[in-house]
Amino acid sequence: MAKDFSTMEHSNASQNLSIHQVSQPQRRAVLQGGLAVSFASLFGAAGCTTVTPITANAVPLFGFKGISISKADTIRVPEGYTARPFAAWGEPIGVTGAMPAFKEDASNTAAEQAQQMGMHHDGMHFFPLGTANNSQRGLLVMNHEYVDDGLLHVGGIKEWTAEKVKKSQAAHGVSVIEIEQKNGTWTMVRPSRLARRFTAQTPFALGGPAAGHALMKTAADPQGRTVLGTLNNCASSKTPWGTYLSGEENFRFYFTNGGTITPHEKRWGMGKTSFFRWPEHDARFDAAQNPNEFNRFGWVVEIDPNDPQSTPVKRTAMGRAAHEGAWVALTADQRAVVYSGEDARFEYIYKFVSSKPMTSEAAAKAQGLTHAQANKTLLDEGTLYVARFDADGTGKWLPLIHGAGKLTAANGFADQGEVLIKTRQASDLLGATKMDRPEWLTIHPRTGEVYCTLTNNSARGVGANPGVDAANPRANNMMGQIIRWTERNAAGQQDHAADTMTWNHLVLAGDPANTRADARGNIKGDIYACPDGITFDARGVLWVQTDMHASEMNKGEMTGFGNNQMLACDPASGEMRRFLTGPVNSEITGLALTPDGKTMFINVQHPGENAADRSDPNNVSAFSKWPYGGRPRSATVVITRDDGGVIGA
Ligand code: FEO
Ligand code: CA
Ligand code: CA
Repeated sequence: MAKDFSTMEHSNASQNLSIHQVSQPQRRAVLQGGLAVSFASLFGAAGCTTVTPITANAVPLFGFKGISISKADTIRVPEGYTARPFAAWGEPIGVTGAMPAFKEDASNTAAEQAQQMGMHHDGMHFFPLGTANNSQRGLLVMNHEYVDDGLLHVGGIKEWTAEKVKKSQAAHGVSVIEIEQKNGTWTMVRPSRLARRFTAQTPFALGGPAAGHALMKTAADPQGRTVLGTLNNCASSKTPWGTYLSGEENFRFYFTNGGTITPHEKRWGMGKTSFFRWPEHDARFDAAQNPNEFNRFGWVVEIDPNDPQSTPVKRTAMGRAAHEGAWVALTADQRAVVYSGEDARFEYIYKFVSSKPMTSEAAAKAQGLTHAQANKTLLDEGTLYVARFDADGTGKWLPLIHGAGKLTAANGFADQGEVLIKTRQASDLLGATKMDRPEWLTIHPRTGEVYCTLTNNSARGVGANPGVDAANPRANNMMGQIIRWTERNAAGQQDHAADTMTWNHLVLAGDPANTRADARGNIKGDIYACPDGITFDARGVLWVQTDMHASEMNKGEMTGFGNNQMLACDPASGEMRRFLTGPVNSEITGLALTPDGKTMFINVQHPGENAADRSDPNNVSAFSKWPYGGRPRSATVVITRDDGGVIGA
């Protein structure tokens, strides 16, 4: 989600020591030397020898010619590639018997919107149908992070009504669409028995230690086990057992408490007014009337897209956070390790290690179950950890276990459920590292290294806020960085379940020519700022997508980057090459590939964002008319190579 910095969350007032307070000389070495010296200082001078060697690839990863920056209201891709908009907001998804067409004047009803593509496409995955490697037909599953209520309704947000709240809720959530490629063109299969929408009104079960907890019970759900809806679904991933994981990110934007805001609500960014005006017509989002509803959002959500009858579940064992998303690795003994972070200033990076191993596909089949069904409680039991990145290039995963250390009843945690509902407060007590807005994570398919984007944090080092540290080394950080680490156990072996790691920065984003030292990047190749989406493809290319906010783009030190974009990165050499540029005031996000690597799907979110009052018809398309020349609409983009080859190769 692009964020206007004026509304940016910054609720971590805990007093964890910043790393710079522990080891100032180390930090200086990092700051002065850029990537090369920081690498030497972290892994040479510190005498650490366990880092995974980074070796150059035998063959170049990139077979395309990079493109220039762009301020045009269009999608641009390299020579020899074609990009085509697909599945835009408002298109009917093909639920049998219900295919309401999109109305350009935004007059579709809430009920119609619930059968159409939602707004603000975000994280996305392709699930082949029939065979595991089917690259011609599959399910495309994607998040709809939030909405522009000005664009969504006739007359924008003037005359705010209960029907507009319902339509806004229906445009949120997740879409499952069936798609196929025929004669080189991808189309939606309509009707489809698998097409499905999850909205802010769809029932979700709660799983894990916080299910049924007193803090999760409401008048409408006295058992505390069923929540209506999912919100602000940002990034996503696919599990090894074939389900979809989605993060509930900025859920605080939907709630308000006009009465007394409790310390717990304050720590989670609750305000006297909400960004989205749902509480005015839906008391569920008014914490003064329904104090616990707020606790029922901020979870990692699991969906089985192949089973249209399945109940989606909020997995509480992975903790409550403004989750960007969640990404799964497997240990040698097949336990699931789920990495996640929360995108807010000075918040944390987490990992969860399941207690039990994943049931194999063959064992599931022997039980008459699908792979997903056999693993439907795998993420309900395990240990959650929060990351501390130390200045010597090592790091520690700190367990969030009730009764251990400071996580006791005396400190406000009655049980494990409360630790998980109050993950931030628990992490504050453990001294975790306050990061520069953790966004996406991805795991290198060969080295097992974990990469995480830290998109920016212009509040770092400003006033009484936390200062710089080794992992977050720049004050007033407008540019962001990408951090990566390798999990190592006590024997020095690589192990995703280990509680120690070694880390370094892949890159500090920003133009290397910038005159402000803290805005200067060490990018090799094409420049960019504010990395957000990152995904490895099967060849080991790291695709990096940017999310500069519309109000900041092309101004001051953000000049020179053009519109938001996507680049390919060779993680061995660090070289970046620009592959795609997006329309005006959009963000590039979500990435899925077919198994053969020959079709890439990306999402364009909020083209034309930041227009003034959209109730003025002249402002509807003020900045962007993408993709179809009228009202701007978030949409997927299908990218193919004109010679039918693998994308990027
Ligand atoms: Fe939804 Fe952090 O972007
Ligand atoms: Ca972002
Ligand atoms: Ca994002």
